[in-house]
Amino acid sequence: MTTSEHLDLISAESRATAYETYAGLRSDAPISRVKMPTGQDVWLLTGYEEGVELLTDYNRFKTTATVVPEGVEMPAVPDAVLRLLGGSMAALDPPDHTRQRRLVQAAFTPQYVEKLRPVVQAITDRLVDDLLARPDRSVDLVEEFAVPLPLTVMSNMLGIPPTDRDRFRLWSELLLGLDPTSAQSAPNGMSPMDVMAEIERFVGYIDALIKAKRADPGEDLISGMALAEADGERMTDDEVLKMVALLVVGGLGTTQHLIGNMVLALFRNPDQLALLRAQPELAANAVDEMLRYHGSIEISFPRFAAEDTVLAGESIAKGEMLIAVLAAGSRDPRKFTDPDRLDIRRHGASRHLGFGRGAHMCLGAPLARVEGQIALNTLLSRLPELRPAISLDDVTWRAGMTLRGVTALPVAY
Ligand code: HEM
Repeated sequence: MTTSEHLDLISAESRATAYETYAGLRSDAPISRVKMPTGQDVWLLTGYEEGVELLTDYNRFKTTATVVPEGVEMPAVPDAVLRLLGGSMAALDPPDHTRQRRLVQAAFTPQYVEKLRPVVQAITDRLVDDLLARPDRSVDLVEEFAVPLPLTVMSNMLGIPPTDRDRFRLWSELLLGLDPTSAQSAPNGMSPMDVMAEIERFVGYIDALIKAKRADPGEDLISGMALAEADGERMTDDEVLKMVALLVVGGLGTTQHLIGNMVLALFRNPDQLALLRAQPELAANAVDEMLRYHGSIEISFPRFAAEDTVLAGESIAKGEMLIAVLAAGSRDPRKFTDPDRLDIRRHGASRHLGFGRGAHMCLGAPLARVEGQIALNTLLSRLPELRPAISLDDVTWRAGMTLRGVTALPVAY
């Protein structure tokens, strides 16, 4: 029996050295038994092939925790999380997952994302206009660009009017904070009761929006999901609500942090910055390489062994929890040559694990890629003097293990 290692993987300080920590674990074995901050023992997969095996063998590994035998303790989940995310698509296994994914996919088509491209460009251009209008020519790029870009795109997609965007931003932060590995405290000293009351308001707001869109559909995604049909079935209001919550949780912090991570990585690799400035057509590959080198989702959702089994040579007991460390798999030297080097021309960069793999692979990947490419090309072409305004050793990382990103990135231009 392998004993659990106590590792600090969650504090803000630990974030700066997380890649080294994972490389150290992987050099011993691509699977390690670790005690999570929640107190639970977990198997961490730090190898590429092992991570893929976990994410794609739906018979042996489940996302639903129903395989946990009696007596095994699960982390406490707040009621609001259960109400919004419990039974959401991300926590379902085939065939229930397949049905929901097919329905949402019918609304979230590649054609739909292509239609969003000019919208994303216009939103990005407006944000850069605002940056250029500032007399001091220096801002926190996270606060003034990386946060509002996906937030405005998502509000637009969901049909949230501009007047409600500030509330929507607060709700999205509160929803993110519900993740037990996020280690985020509520903003402005809000009490847990205030947080739950706001979450209730979010539920009421989205409920009303769904009803309004069913009665009078528009071009937005909520209308699309409410009307989507697959095999003669439609999504219920409750399913659309859970899906909206999942899109908010899955689509905002991730894209925000990808943008921050990409700009930071370019600052730290001036040759790659110069290359991308000279050849903007490399942006598509650059975004995939960034997702490999410095993706914004570090770990998969937990999976649970459906039976006693063996993975990477370790015996796993039925019900035990396993997590694929996507950030580590994407830097596995058995898969990628010179994995710790950023190379925006790398062949095969898109084989990274940054969007996961298999049935739960990121639904929003096409949109995230479009947002990432437009963000990079627009920033570099319209702000030719863009540079860091602090020492790059002083950047601070968001605490928590799921999302990987900087909390602020002061720049001048
Ligand atoms: C850079 C940005 C993004 C990254 C790195 C990312 C990463 C991921 C990963 C790793 C997973 C799979 C987790 C697992 O299997 O355990 C996932 C799932 C998901 N993502 Fe993303 N994501 C991003 C952007 C988005 C956006 C923009 C949206 C929506 C607009 C979105 C919606 C979702 C949804 C709904 C799922 C669950 C899919 C399912 O369970 O079938 N993501 N994402």
